[in-house]
Amino acid sequence: MSSRHSPTLTVMVQAARKAARTLSRDFGEVENLQVSVKGPGDFVSAADLRAEETIREELTRARPGYGFLLEEGGAVEGSDKSHRWIVDPLDGTTNFLHGIPLFAINIALEREGEIVAGLTYNPISDELFWAEKGKGAFINDKRLRVAARRDLSQSVVCTGIPHIGWKNHAEFSRQLATIMPQVAGIRRTGSCAIDMAFVAAGRFDAYWESGLNAWDLAAGVILVREAGGTVTDLNNGSDILGKGSVLATNETLHKPLMNIIKKAGAA
Ligand code: IPD
Ligand code: CA
Ligand code: CA
Repeated sequence: MSSRHSPTLTVMVQAARKAARTLSRDFGEVENLQVSVKGPGDFVSAADLRAEETIREELTRARPGYGFLLEEGGAVEGSDKSHRWIVDPLDGTTNFLHGIPLFAINIALEREGEIVAGLTYNPISDELFWAEKGKGAFINDKRLRVAARRDLSQSVVCTGIPHIGWKNHAEFSRQLATIMPQVAGIRRTGSCAIDMAFVAAGRFDAYWESGLNAWDLAAGVILVREAGGTVTDLNNGSDILGKGSVLATNETLHKPLMNIIKKAGAA
């Protein structure tokens, strides 16, 4: 990690690394559980909760007054009303459950309603993506920039595909049908946190998805912005966490992609 980061970011990194140790161990166990009749479902829920508990304990120890928005534990008010941690202890649960090594821990810090720090950590690749307001975005110690591609025809675009139990299958199919003939490739990782981090790193040229929650997106929003990217909700507004929808890309590709998604019928 670089000397550029604040003490608060050190706290976030320590919490993520501690949770990652047990999460990685549990991931190893999941492979054994695939063959059992019961399957790894309950085990994964327990791993998820364990990771959240560790993160919560570590963050509380370092910053006792801050509140929380936790995926599993919900909203927890702190005595310090201006700071709130937004945490997804395991983003990419379906991957984790299936033994696919694409998942991440997501921690963001909100100050007076604005995200000021974000971290996405993939314990398997040991890639730590982090950003702080005004300081830039980094992977481990290396500065990140979004991709500079200007042509959709050369762009690799990532998305999230609605699964069983979701209502927006038809709408997503329209968006996909409109975008796929115009781009170099479409990807689906199964982790919103990784998708946003990869846009910040210039690996994906763009990412869009709807039906998300604040803990999926909070860290990624600051990662992409600090990497020089443009992030909006799918109504082209700034209420990304509230709407739970996102288009993250560079300044040039944002407009044409937003137009395509709107034409196809956004969420
Ligand atoms: C999910 C992942 C996935 C996205 C889903 C999210 P989870 O989070 O980010 O990529 O498509 O909408 O719910 O459940 O793995 O924490
Ligand atoms: Ca998630
Ligand atoms: Ca999760």
